[in-house]
Amino acid sequence: MELKFLGHACFLLDDGTCKVLTDPFLTGNALAAADARQVDADFIFVTHGHGDHTGDAEAIARRTGATVCCTVDLAEGVFGPAGVKTQVGNLGGTIAMPFGSAKFFQAIHGSGAAGCLSCGFIFTIGGKKIYHAGDTALMSDMALLADEDIDAALLPIGDVFTMGPADALRAVRMIRPQLVIPMHYDTFPPIVQDAATFAAAVESAGFRARVLHPGESLTL
Ligand code: NI
Ligand code: MN
Repeated sequence: MELKFLGHACFLLDDGTCKVLTDPFLTGNALAAADARQVDADFIFVTHGHGDHTGDAEAIARRTGATVCCTVDLAEGVFGPAGVKTQVGNLGGTIAMPFGSAKFFQAIHGSGAAGCLSCGFIFTIGGKKIYHAGDTALMSDMALLADEDIDAALLPIGDVFTMGPADALRAVRMIRPQLVIPMHYDTFPPIVQDAATFAAAVESAGFRARVLHPGESLTL
């Protein structure tokens, strides 16, 4: 299972048979490590309707034929009308996927689309469980994730629009993942953070952390 960070909240998960892309904000992101006209995907998971998450999802889906996976409301409001294939779920639900499954987990954040809730995803892929938190504040619900045996937690640390490093560390203590990877920072001036300092704090708390620069990948 290869996990590649493409910048902001965009990751490419590849189990060797399926390419799963998350929140593909590439065009307009100066730090993005991929060109939206070239990135490949079978499925594109979108956590909510803000532009730094929907990003190039529609264009990539149109070019590659990938299915956009999102909440019912986001599909009805944004991706359905755009004419791309969608697969939907909603908070608390799990959808079966060719690569395994994806569970919609709550997030506390605006949605950017009418009637829509923001979410995160728990992917089961390649025998691993990966929690992509989306944009969210710290919430006590994250303690529920301790029972999920998360292998890798992708957590926003940018502050201002999501939790910052201190709250993300509190999230780590609740989630208890095998590995923490920070995301959603440095893309814009208000969310510049010292990811290395965050990673060191996570390690001091007894958990593993890895800072991935855009374009870097690791094998889980
Ligand atoms: Ni947002
Ligand atoms: Mn965002």
